[in-house]
Amino acid sequence: MLNIKIAPSILAADFANLGAAVEELEKNGADMIHCDVMDGQFVHPITFGSQMVEAIRKHTTLPLDVHLMAEHPQTLVADFANAGADILSVHYEACRKFGGRYLYETLQMIRSYGKKSGVVISPYTHVSSIHSVLPVCDMVLLMSVVPGYGGQKFKPETLDRIAELREMADVEGFYDLDIEVDGGINEENVGAIKAAGANVIVAGSAVFKSADMRAAIEALRNR
Ligand code: DX5
Ligand code: ZN
Repeated sequence: MLNIKIAPSILAADFANLGAAVEELEKNGADMIHCDVMDGQFVHPITFGSQMVEAIRKHTTLPLDVHLMAEHPQTLVADFANAGADILSVHYEACRKFGGRYLYETLQMIRSYGKKSGVVISPYTHVSSIHSVLPVCDMVLLMSVVPGYGGQKFKPETLDRIAELREMADVEGFYDLDIEVDGGINEENVGAIKAAGANVIVAGSAVFKSADMRAAIEALRNR
């Protein structure tokens, strides 16, 4: 059984006080910090880039889990790796247009910096699309909302997608693949998400909009 890890997303934090936000998350039991990088191209909003990741790095010892919602991710790997990201995840949909081995090589490149490699798939992409890159993946992130905005509703069909991915990984012998789920997760639906086979839980609103951050993180861990 893989360890459950709770990765609060700072997308829901006060952007004028991100240093304080990550310190608060660490103090209240988070396992990693989920950083949503949006480039204004792959998704409409622009959030922040590698300089912000570098700034956040100084405020926590927790792993930084960087979710790159950006076009041409290969060109960004060096910057984010050098900024102090620990896990770097790129979207399948941003890579496929380059064809060939672009995604495979991007994941290898992330590992060559000594970082954990992740691939992300959006809700309408088939789970089987990433089968061929499993050998170079430490984590697969399944989006349970359309990427771009926090505060959306969890798509229930994600549960079957998690189970399908866990089975695919097990069949191929990747028993310790981390499966992360991101979007609309709260204490009501997190139990089913874990039962389906996910072990890394992202939550923005559920952590930052709650009155008691510690209790919110504990609830996500224990339900
Ligand atoms: C959406 C982001 C998510 C988002 C999750 O594009 O990738 O990480 O912050 O926020 P909630 O938990 O509010 O859905
Ligand atoms: Zn995210």
